[in-house]
Amino acid sequence: MIGSRLFVIMMVVFFLFIFSVVVGLNWNEDPKIASKTWEEAISIAEIFVAQLTLEEKCNMTSGIHGPCIGNVLPISRLNFKGLCFRDSPSGVGGKILHSTAFAAGIQIAATWDRNLFYRRGAAIGKEFRGKGVHFALDPMMNIDRNARYGRNWEGFGSDPYLAGENLFYYVQGIQDQGVVATAKHYICNEQETNRLVCPSDSQSQSDLNNCRAYSANVDDKTMHEIYLWPFASSVAAGVGSVMCSYNQVNGTPTCQNDKILNKLLKEELQFLGNVMSDWGATKTGVQSALAGLDVDMAGDDDLMGFNLVQAVKNRMITEERLDDMIIRLLTPYYLLRQDQEYPSLNLDRNVMEDHYKINREIATAGIILLKNTNNILPFDVTNDTYYFIYGSAAGQSDEGFGSGGSAKHSGALYQGGGSGFVQPTYAIDPLTSLLIKGRDFHFQIRYITNQNDYVAINNSFNARGFAAAKCLVFISAWSSEGFDRNDLHALNNGDELVQTVASRCANTIVIVNSVSQLNLEGWIDLPNVVGVIWSGMPGSEYGSAIVDVLFENYNPGGKLVFTLAKKNSDYGTDISPTYHSNYNEGVFLDYRHFDKYNILPRYYFGYGLSYTTFSFSELHIVKAGKGKHKVSSYYRQHRIRPYTNIATSKLYEPVYEITFTVTNSGEVYGSEVPQLYLGFPAEAEEPAKVLRGFERVYLVAGQSKRVSFILTQKDISYWNVSNQKWTVAPGTYSVWISTSANNDDVKLQTTFNIDWQNKKIRKEKFTSQNRKNIRIFLCEMIKNIEKRFSLC
Ligand SMILES: *[C@@H]1O[C@H](CO)[C@@H](O)[C@H](O)[C@H]1NC(C)=O
Ligand SMILES: *[C@@H]1O[C@H](CO)[C@@H](O)[C@H](O)[C@H]1NC(C)=O
Ligand SMILES: *[C@@H]1O[C@H](CO)[C@@H](O)[C@H](O)[C@H]1NC(C)=O
Ligand SMILES: *[C@@H]1O[C@H](CO)[C@@H](O)[C@H](O)[C@H]1NC(C)=O
Repeated sequence: MIGSRLFVIMMVVFFLFIFSVVVGLNWNEDPKIASKTWEEAISIAEIFVAQLTLEEKCNMTSGIHGPCIGNVLPISRLNFKGLCFRDSPSGVGGKILHSTAFAAGIQIAATWDRNLFYRRGAAIGKEFRGKGVHFALDPMMNIDRNARYGRNWEGFGSDPYLAGENLFYYVQGIQDQGVVATAKHYICNEQETNRLVCPSDSQSQSDLNNCRAYSANVDDKTMHEIYLWPFASSVAAGVGSVMCSYNQVNGTPTCQNDKILNKLLKEELQFLGNVMSDWGATKTGVQSALAGLDVDMAGDDDLMGFNLVQAVKNRMITEERLDDMIIRLLTPYYLLRQDQEYPSLNLDRNVMEDHYKINREIATAGIILLKNTNNILPFDVTNDTYYFIYGSAAGQSDEGFGSGGSAKHSGALYQGGGSGFVQPTYAIDPLTSLLIKGRDFHFQIRYITNQNDYVAINNSFNARGFAAAKCLVFISAWSSEGFDRNDLHALNNGDELVQTVASRCANTIVIVNSVSQLNLEGWIDLPNVVGVIWSGMPGSEYGSAIVDVLFENYNPGGKLVFTLAKKNSDYGTDISPTYHSNYNEGVFLDYRHFDKYNILPRYYFGYGLSYTTFSFSELHIVKAGKGKHKVSSYYRQHRIRPYTNIATSKLYEPVYEITFTVTNSGEVYGSEVPQLYLGFPAEAEEPAKVLRGFERVYLVAGQSKRVSFILTQKDISYWNVSNQKWTVAPGTYSVWISTSANNDDVKLQTTFNIDWQNKKIRKEKFTSQNRKNIRIFLCEMIKNIEKRFSLC
């Protein structure tokens, strides 16, 4: 008796040890710089600023010409070498050499894997640091409000919680390498149309100052619960810089918007870093400085900088505010110890190391299996040996790797265009990878990448021996910074290509290489379209990734980060052609909108298939109490850094822990992404459900794992516009554990109550059912350990 109890205890201790080693290694494998705290960094910045002349201080508020896209004045007498600012969110961008073209934001989001969020950020951070860049102009965190928005590919999809989690780990990944992250574009920059319309094409400086931008008109609740949410997450993570956007918010340009900069960002979120303008987004000098803008970029507009000398002398702006601007500019530099041992600037330095490995992992993990009739996928290398490959998106562009940045984009797409584009040093297209696979397994492969040659395509079906061939049709959709998409259809008549192939080939599999939403209705229901894979914007390891998925070297597990609608009008939001973009849908965006109007989408937000199956059981919910429950400290351990901004940390305190078991009930290794959707009491005026938790769980066949979701104070609150506070509504909350936003996919559900009187959270009773479940859980755990280490 005593012996067996001792054994149990030893096993539990052993299990916890293994668990902590595994988890610990995953999260901490990259070395981190030893940062300072904000308070320490501010004091150092204050001492520095006290030694500057008025003119030096003023000049530092504006960018200068230099080696980078943005440069801050060096002060050589104080041994300050200046600062370099550089794009982009998916790697070190611009016309430079030797940087990795990473899978884009929309791809990392589709992995739903926090571990990958962090490791991607860390790899990108290493490249910025290695080249000597101080401020990385990323992450890009605008919400996919409009399916046609040209920059959706750089961001993290349509849900603020999912985007917020991405940002949190991206910021930590970058800043753990000592590089300042810049949260952009602040705020409500959800379209490119009319973002900066200038009086003439010449774009002389006076013209630029007269450019007009649309106004995003947003109510307070929507601002807090959707658009500010991810920025709040990045501030909580400790982001050093925020970039204000081209557009206006409620009639005032964001870079001179007191409400947006001073009130929301600096007061409410207690952001201690600096606000820089997007390039050319500053419209006024003194007014912007007073509203909260700290640095004017690129700075050649003569609005701030030297011009502020006169303004300070005239007392239009206090010297105290001027000091504050420079302290804010330099605090992140000291915070991340860039004043010590930072690499010299060399943008072409080769810093790529073995980042292709993490890049390939992300590209693969972000691929989404949408349709798989009769398990046509994965292919079996011994039986499936005949392949037709169609579409220009299967091979390389005839313009080379630079074409990702231009409007002509015939080949496979690795990233979208604009300042976010990183020209790959190399990139592997799907056709190349399929040919290599074919060499190894003796496939017969025929391909046609000129997708307008319908004669050749029609003739191909007469090829001898190919009657039962698999037909892979590659289609794509591209977009860029600077303008929005015209429609939601594939490039170069991609729909027609699919229809033509599907009219002759019973095994048509479509691979969708798209920046964001695409309308699939022209072919998705055709009986011969038996497989659809969403390959997204996968970066330079595209070919390797898609082949891994097709042949089950990797079991797909990505999930959609936006809803795919049947009709474009079903989204309920669109690009405004005028100078007003009215966010009239309020908080009812994407799946929240589809729920409200009961619209059936083609594929739900959060959806994605696997080659295996999963089952769910034993849902528990407990209050994340102090002391007796260690959730709080465990949760914090992984999220806290010295540079974390703890000013608003009460909102991020865990209040509930929800646990359940996921089992891989199929035959092969794979992953599932359980998603927690929360339903609020009526007072909160929330959508029917909102995403408040997720985790990507990887399991071998037959394996089970306990999954834990944390609900924080903020997660269960709504923004109360009358008292301007995050408020917990009393009443009953519903918790749904689901595998997509489709209510039919809900696997487990429960509720919890918050008391009317004191809004205390009622603890769940320790029922005999719970005791039994805990016993079952412990027994299973011990059985697993025994099995694994053959102890018995
Ligand atoms: C500040 O900028 C002005 C205008 O560009 C320039 O003439 C002046 O030399 C600069 N002063 C310092 C200290 O950098
Ligand atoms: C190949 O196909 C045949 C006929 O469909 C099937 O019986 C066999 O199991 C397949 N081979 C493999 C390795 O899957
Ligand atoms: C190709 O075949 C389809 C039907 O399968 C037909 O509609 C189309 O006209 C053909 N195109 C050419 C150029 O022959
Ligand atoms: C917001 O707070 C006020 C004042 O505390 C309260 O009266 C009101 O019920 C709350 N909820 C809403 C939705 O306004």
